[in-house]
Amino acid sequence: MWKPAERIKYKALDDEWPDAGEAAKSRLFSPIDIGTISLKQRTWIPAMVPWRSNEDGEVTQDVLDWYQRFAEGKPGAIVIEATGIRNTPSGPLLRVGDDRYIPGLKKLVETVRIASEGKTRLFIQLIDFMTIRRRPDPDKFLSRFLTISDSHRHLLNMPDANDVEVRDHLIALSAAQQQTVLTVKEWEDMCFGYRERVTDTHIDEVAELPKVLPLLFSDAAKRAELAGFDGVELHYAHAYTMASFLSATNSRTDGYGGSREGRVRLPLEVYQAVRKNTGKGFVVGCRMLTDEIFEQGSRLDDATFFAEQFSAAGMDFLSFSRGGKFDDAKQPKVGWAAYPYTGQSGYECMPSYISDSFGPFGRNINPVAHIRDSLAAKDLMVPCITAGGIHSFMQAESILEKDQADIIGFARQSLADPDWFEKVRLGHGAQATLCRFSNYCEGLDQKHKQVTCELWDRVDLDADGVSKTHDGKRRMIAPAWSPS
Ligand SMILES: Cc1cc2nc3c(=O)[nH]c(=O)nc-3n(C[C@H](O)[C@H](O)[C@H](O)COP(=O)(O)O)c2cc1C
Repeated sequence: MWKPAERIKYKALDDEWPDAGEAAKSRLFSPIDIGTISLKQRTWIPAMVPWRSNEDGEVTQDVLDWYQRFAEGKPGAIVIEATGIRNTPSGPLLRVGDDRYIPGLKKLVETVRIASEGKTRLFIQLIDFMTIRRRPDPDKFLSRFLTISDSHRHLLNMPDANDVEVRDHLIALSAAQQQTVLTVKEWEDMCFGYRERVTDTHIDEVAELPKVLPLLFSDAAKRAELAGFDGVELHYAHAYTMASFLSATNSRTDGYGGSREGRVRLPLEVYQAVRKNTGKGFVVGCRMLTDEIFEQGSRLDDATFFAEQFSAAGMDFLSFSRGGKFDDAKQPKVGWAAYPYTGQSGYECMPSYISDSFGPFGRNINPVAHIRDSLAAKDLMVPCITAGGIHSFMQAESILEKDQADIIGFARQSLADPDWFEKVRLGHGAQATLCRFSNYCEGLDQKHKQVTCELWDRVDLDADGVSKTHDGKRRMIAPAWSPS
C-alpha cells in the first residue's frame, strides 16, 4: 500500500473514557432522526466486505454470525457490506439481484434485530461495478488477447503482415518499443489488466448503463425493503460504477458526463427510481466521496455540488468516504487484479498508522464539515456521516460538538472491537480494544480472504465452539464480551 513519504509512526490515541452517566449525556449516545426513522445513538458501522458469502452471493451462516457479532455491540446503525444488484456471478460477494435472495436477507435482518435487542438500525449498501480482469502475462496478451489492427501494422511498418506475424514481431520488441506501438488503452490492459470504464461507450452494455441502472438499483432496493431493512445506502463512492459517473474523468458525451450536472444526472436518476419503487418510510441515502484524491479526479468543490444535489433531491443521509480509486492504484503482479486501495487515494480511504504530520486520525473530518456547512448555508441539511481513522470517544464527541458531522462511522474500529459501543456507553471504555490502523484487515480484503482482525483472531483459537477460517489459523469472529 502507498504510504506518505514522512513515514511517521502513530500509536492509538490516549482517551478519556466517560462513565455511564457522562456517556448517557454525550452527543455520541444521543438519538438522531434519519429520514422517517430514528437512530438510538450517533454511531454507525460503515459497509465492510468480510468475504463471508458464497459463489452464489447468498447469506451464509458465516454472514449471519458476522453481523450478529456486530449487532451485539448495539451501534446506532450497521450498513451491510457492498451487495451486488445484478443477477450475475461475482465471486463470494453478497448479492440482491434476484428475489431468491430475499429469504436469506430476511434472516440477516432478523438476526441483527434479535442480537441488538432492536436497538440497531439496518441498512444495506447497493453496488454496481464494472468488469475488471487480472493482469495478463505480456506474451499471452500479445499472442492471444490483443486485437491486431492496421494501426499496429502501420507503426511496425508491416502493411501486408498477417496477425500471427504482427503478434510475433510485437513479442520480440522491448517493453519500451511495445509501448510506442500499442494504444494507451492496450498498453494499460497489458500492464494492469483489462478494466472497463464508464466512458467505453463503444461497448453496448456501457452505453446503456443510464437505461439499465435505475431499474437494477430500484429492484434491488425493493428487495431490501421486502427483506425488512430500514433502508439502503446507494454506493456512489470509491472505484465503482456510480462513482465513475460522478468522477471528473467521466467525459461521456451522451448527457451523462462532462459537466458536473451531466455527471450527477445518473446518480440522481438512480436515486429517484429507488425512491419511487420503495415505500414512504424507507430510508434512502448514499455513500459518496469528499475527494477522489488523484489530480484529475473530482475534488471537494465537486463533492459539495453533488451533496447539494442529493440533498435537494430528498436523500435521507449522506455518508462520506474519500479516495479508493483505480486511477492511481499500483500495478498488480501478473495474475492479480488491480486493487483500488494501493495508491495515495487508497491511503486516504483507509489511512494507516504509518502517516504524515497530519496522522491517520480523522483525515476526512474537515472535508465533511465543509460540505455540511455548505448544506446548512443553503438550507439543505441532511444527516452527514463521517468516517476515516476514528476510534476514540473524545475524538467522536468533539466532531459532534463542533458540528463537523451528525453521525460517526467506525469501520476498522468496529472490526477491532465490535463491543466498543456498549463498552463506552456502559462506562467500560477502558476495556475497549483500539484499532491500530495497521490495515491487516484490508490486506485480507485485497486477497479476498475472510476478513478478521489481528487483535483478536488468534485469541482462544482452540476453545470449544470457535469457528475458524478456511485455513484453520484464525477465528472468524471476535471473542464474546460481557460487562463485569
Ligand atoms: C475490510 C474492509 C472492507 C471494506 N468494504 C467496504 C465496502 O463494502 N463499502 C464501502 O463503502 N467501504 C468499504 N470499506 C471502507 C470502510 O467503510 C471505511 O470507509 C474505511 O475503512 C475508513 O474508515 P475507518 O477508518 O473507520 O476504518 C472497507 C474497509 C475495510 C477495512
